[in-house]
Amino acid sequence: MLIISEPKEMQLLANNLRKEGKVIGFVPTMGALHQGHLRLIRKARKESDFLVVSIFVNPLQFEPGSDYNRYPRRFEEDRYKCEMEGVQAIFHPSVQNMYPEDFSTYVEVEGLSKYMEGEFRPGHFRGVATVVLKLFNIVKPHFAVFGLKDAQQYYIIKRMVRDLNLDIEIIPHETVREPDGLACSSRNEYLSEESRRQATALYKALKLGKEMIFSGERRSNKIKEEMKSFIKENAPTSKIDYVEIASTKTLEPVETVVDEILLALAVRFPEARLIDNFIINADEGYVLNEKI
Ligand code: PAF
Repeated sequence: MLIISEPKEMQLLANNLRKEGKVIGFVPTMGALHQGHLRLIRKARKESDFLVVSIFVNPLQFEPGSDYNRYPRRFEEDRYKCEMEGVQAIFHPSVQNMYPEDFSTYVEVEGLSKYMEGEFRPGHFRGVATVVLKLFNIVKPHFAVFGLKDAQQYYIIKRMVRDLNLDIEIIPHETVREPDGLACSSRNEYLSEESRRQATALYKALKLGKEMIFSGERRSNKIKEEMKSFIKENAPTSKIDYVEIASTKTLEPVETVVDEILLALAVRFPEARLIDNFIINADEGYVLNEKI
């Protein structure tokens, strides 16, 4: 397995692979690889001749005062996991390599970035879109796999790819969960034992919202209120940032549940902020990101 830290070297390799007609698959990550990442890697592995995983904790997507400094970094462990999964190359640049001192170009995906995470983490999606476009230009993949736990991020990347005519297929992957339903996340490890126990309320609240929709409830406010009450009762040390129901086309909050909607939430525990969601097809009665 190759470990590459220079963008130029990665580009050269990608050019050569493309000349040989190889299909380059890509899984962008910030490291601290967990089961969720490994499932994305396995999916990408099946569909590529050469799989690149990037490991880069992107400072641009952390708002001031958030967890950039304490974000888990364990390259040796990640490297071993990638090796075991049959990854061909890890792209692991330094911050200086990605952002020279006079760096001044950013990608803004308007509209979709305004709501939910965009509202609570100003600048976050600008940082994500900018780094992902840079990574795409460096790794030159034919396709990239993104997990639907970060559904808003997935929609934003899809829009960027369409709007900027990038010749890259964006492949979604269902949310990977712990046995008790908590969505896999590198931030779960921050949680105290008590918060970890309470955190199962997030998945249960989503299931409650889903059941209400499948039983015919269409009033967003009613569903959101029930879910919030459930979280307050079952995760008393947490604070809810939002429980939202949004159109999957615009990510704008909707008053009435129709067609396909994103049921999303963000909750702060004393040690970590967690997000989760269901993408629900209300008419046909299924959850898209639990089935792919
Ligand atoms: O989802 C993540 O881990 C990050 O947002 C990504 C896509 C690797 C960009 O830094």
